Amino acid sequence: MSPRVLLFTGKGGVGKTTAAAATATLAAKRGLKTLIVSTDTAHSLADALGVEPGEIAPGLHLHQVDTQKTLERHWGELQEYARGVLTELGLDEITSEEITILPGAEEIIALLELREHAREGRWDVIVVDCAPTAETLRLLALPEALDWHMTRLMPVGRKIMKIVSPFVRSVAHVSAPGEEVMSAGERLHRGLLEVRELLTGEHASVRLVLTPESVVLAEARRTLTSLNLYGYRVDAVIANRVFPAEGADQWRAQWVAAQSRLLAEAEESFAPLPIHVVPYLPAEPVGKDALAEMGAAMYGEADPFADPGVEPPLRLSADELALALPGADRADVDLARKGDELIITAGPYRRILALPAALARRRISGAALRDGVLRVRFTAGGPDD
Ligand SMILES: Nc1ncnc2c1ncn2[C@@H]1O[C@H](COP(=O)(O)OP(=O)(O)OP(=O)(O)O)[C@@H](O)[C@H]1O
Ligand SMILES: [Mg+2]
Repeated sequence: MSPRVLLFTGKGGVGKTTAAAATATLAAKRGLKTLIVSTDTAHSLADALGVEPGEIAPGLHLHQVDTQKTLERHWGELQEYARGVLTELGLDEITSEEITILPGAEEIIALLELREHAREGRWDVIVVDCAPTAETLRLLALPEALDWHMTRLMPVGRKIMKIVSPFVRSVAHVSAPGEEVMSAGERLHRGLLEVRELLTGEHASVRLVLTPESVVLAEARRTLTSLNLYGYRVDAVIANRVFPAEGADQWRAQWVAAQSRLLAEAEESFAPLPIHVVPYLPAEPVGKDALAEMGAAMYGEADPFADPGVEPPLRLSADELALALPGADRADVDLARKGDELIITAGPYRRILALPAALARRRISGAALRDGVLRVRFTAGGPDD
């Protein structure tokens, strides 16, 4: 019953919106009830499809997230509250550092709306056109980052509210929030946990869009690593704007040669992921027909709507935590334990993992990054540090 959720991300301008729209158009053409959603505030999806939001073709709905009002209503107070309480409670360095990654409410609301749509049971496929790389990563990491804050914040806040009566609050210098903020925070928290479950679940996957250029490729590699770090399954790469080789003049022949070198590099970097190649079309692929055609060419014989044939990046056993970090460099990966939490850093990205009880009781006996997999071994005995 759960819909297939397909997320498209990649560097700015590489063709994310176009690839997402082409995939959605293809899905609708194959009779799947399809919703395409943008987390972007720019109306580029409507532009690509050449339509206004709504039912834009039989079985194809375009949803443009309008978040401005909801943002103004809720987010300001929540964010202020979170910041204020963290500061006042004098929580440690990591905490105050992490709070700055709380992204804009627009993205949060887009995610919450996505969950609503998935719940409706009305859609076979939900395609999400995500914001460019860095923002998307933040967006995708958010539920967990917030989970981490909330689980700390909420019980503490609760305790304070129980113990400290309103007139004592000013003396205690703790900004105990009003009940309504508290429950809004809890609602938000629960909602985000559900979003995370949806996006890391077995019916969801991310497609990485790139163009065969070295800067773009380098960024796509980092994105693959960080998406894995945060637990998202990447199931395909889309190489867009590839120059056709036939009938090339000297100028184009040089591009063809350069691009095929980079495509070979991409194949090596992203193996075993399939790379779907999309040619540089003679015109912008705008409108349903052009997009459906592009979708068909993009996937060829592959079934783009089958469940992802990719394992979840994180696997836990009784004595080992294994996290796939394809493309990660040993020098960039760092591991720290803090009580029941494992803090894994890959380059500029960090994930705070709450260890399951069975592992939290144990001591870390070793860790290694080999063949793109970080393995942390646990052994009997009290937790270290
Ligand atoms: N294969 C292609 N051939 C020709 N034009 C293309 C192709 N793919 C995308 N385009 C065009 O390139 C432009 C950028 O594409 P698109 O808007 O999909 O990129 P994006 O990654 O979503 O950008 P942004 O980061 O700004 O959201 C658009 O004008 C689109 O029509
Ligand atoms: Mg776009």
